[in-house]
Amino acid sequence: ESLHVLVLSGSLRTGSVNTRLGSLVAALVTRAGATAEAATLGDFPMPPYDGDAEADEGLPPGALALCERIAAAQALIIASPEYNASVPGVLKNAIDWVSRYRPQPFKDKQTLLVSASPSMVGGNRGLWALRIPLEHLGARVYPDMFSLAGAHQAFTGDGALTDPGLGERLTTTIGSFLDLAEADTRYLCLQRR
Ligand code: FNR
Repeated sequence: ESLHVLVLSGSLRTGSVNTRLGSLVAALVTRAGATAEAATLGDFPMPPYDGDAEADEGLPPGALALCERIAAAQALIIASPEYNASVPGVLKNAIDWVSRYRPQPFKDKQTLLVSASPSMVGGNRGLWALRIPLEHLGARVYPDMFSLAGAHQAFTGDGALTDPGLGERLTTTIGSFLDLAEADTRYLCLQRR
């Protein structure tokens, strides 16, 4: 049985470079022998977190659907933009809603963070900020991360990276992450027996 990976883009934008990076990542995951499911936060619409709404109605359907998708995956890859050197509000809002679900879906989840930005930093500062809530929730955030700078001109027509060295590094990072996620999934299964 192969590893199932949810690849989630943290952007709602149609022309999102992070959604494009997510598609490439999903293709590389599949090529590595795992199964990948690519989604964006737009697939899980949810209102801003409100404790009164939660008390009255519980989690909104979009948040529940995201919880189920995360829980069903053995590994999670998030492709997120950097907004003002931090996590985009829509992604943080989704994390806040999901954190209210039990069993808490991020707990023990093998997670890889990638980003894309037209800037020269590639959105890397946003990923450091994203580690904080995820690690707080018990996600096993992979030490290595991948940030794509100059992302508006980094893709070929068929969705690969124009820079072959960079493409090689992304492939290697994903391969190492999947190896660890697979070993960890096996370990967790043994522990739960
Ligand atoms: C940005 N952008 C941006 N880029 C960056 O590298 N560092 C940053 O701190 C920010 N800050 C920021 C704030 C806000 C409010 C917006 C709207 C944008 C630019 C951002 O990287 C660019 O819009 C990307 O294209 C967004 O990602 P998607 O939607 O293309 O995936």
